[in-house]
Amino acid sequence: MLTGAVVLSLLSLAWLSQGFPTALNPLNPYPDKPRVTFKPDGSFTLSVFSDLHFGENPWDTWGPEQDRKSLVIMRDVLSREKPDYIVLNGDQITGENTFKENSTTLVNILTQPIRDAKIPFSSTYGNHDNQVNITHLAELEQELKIAPTSYTRRSPPGVGGPGGEANYWVPIYAKSTDAAPSLIFWFFDSRGGISTEGKALPDWVDESVAQWIESETAVMEKAWGPAENRAAMVFVHIPPHVMESLQKTLNSAKEPGLNADPLGVGSTQSSESTSGGQDLDLPFWNTVNSKIKNLLAVVSGHDHGNEWCKRDPAKDVVLCFDKHSGYGGYSKGGWGYGTRTFQFSLKTLKSSVTSWVRMEDGSKKDQVTLDKNYSR
Ligand SMILES: *[C@@H]1O[C@H](CO)[C@@H](O)[C@H](O)[C@H]1NC(C)=O
Ligand SMILES: *[C@@H]1O[C@H](CO)[C@@H](O)[C@H](O)[C@H]1NC(C)=O
Repeated sequence: MLTGAVVLSLLSLAWLSQGFPTALNPLNPYPDKPRVTFKPDGSFTLSVFSDLHFGENPWDTWGPEQDRKSLVIMRDVLSREKPDYIVLNGDQITGENTFKENSTTLVNILTQPIRDAKIPFSSTYGNHDNQVNITHLAELEQELKIAPTSYTRRSPPGVGGPGGEANYWVPIYAKSTDAAPSLIFWFFDSRGGISTEGKALPDWVDESVAQWIESETAVMEKAWGPAENRAAMVFVHIPPHVMESLQKTLNSAKEPGLNADPLGVGSTQSSESTSGGQDLDLPFWNTVNSKIKNLLAVVSGHDHGNEWCKRDPAKDVVLCFDKHSGYGGYSKGGWGYGTRTFQFSLKTLKSSVTSWVRMEDGSKKDQVTLDKNYSR
């Protein structure tokens, strides 16, 4: 006969092995939320809204008009792409133009289409989201307050550095009953902009994040087995510094997409203006590439006139630009607005993802398959 204690521990073992999202599972950062899962047909679609730049010149007519158009783009994309997940990849708000007393109201406005559609989503934040009257932290807290389908999380204490509160990861499961996720979305905070006291903030992912990646990946290996079992994607608003050198050898026949924004000071993490020419994002960048396996792409916004994907031969990883999604922020005639979408398939998950840019008029362009042969 089984004693009560044995029955209990057998029960918890069974629960653990089935990966039930309970307090018993030490590696479920979202005990109160449903698991994000692939569709039953084995596909998963992700759309990235980047550089939405809400809130420009609220005292004028053109700023609010821009935001109305940006909301139309968002609703259009949601109905066309039917994404399973949405990433807001930074510069959601042009903080320079916001007022202290109501700046986070813009978070309510810009997440409305996603909240209406009840789609899981999460955010990185950009240099324009850290300004005198707005911070990454204020946006993050407002998002969590109003959006039940947000998976954004705050970095643990001591991780991220000043102005860098959003470093976290989200597990994506093939099936909700799986013991381990098949795909991990990593989100990093590249900071930038200025503090509420008006001081310039560093524009690279803080070194403390490198140590945190090491400890998180170790915990994942312990709970879920080798990192090679899972695929991964990285999202960070300001591109890693290496992106600047990649542009010099871009071949638009092989690596399609608008390339109208020359990268220089301020365009990538740890650019010369702030770091005296040193690559201060290297602790972060080296650790991303040594600890995260099957990394399908590193995805950034920030430079509105670029939308290509290219391999960094040194790390053997593909970096992609988003598509500028909002009518706010700088632009030039012909650049247009849209989103980058990623389509994952369980069959090829560890080695490939398909991506394209969906423009405001519904057209689809620059479709690429990011696999071992891409951009060689
Ligand atoms: C915030 O307040 C300002 C000044 O009253 C107003 O012009 C602006 O539209 C408000 N913004 C939001 C997002 O509510
Ligand atoms: C910040 O908000 C205050 C209060 O609404 C406003 O007076 C000020 O102009 C804003 N500052 C900036 C830099 O936008």
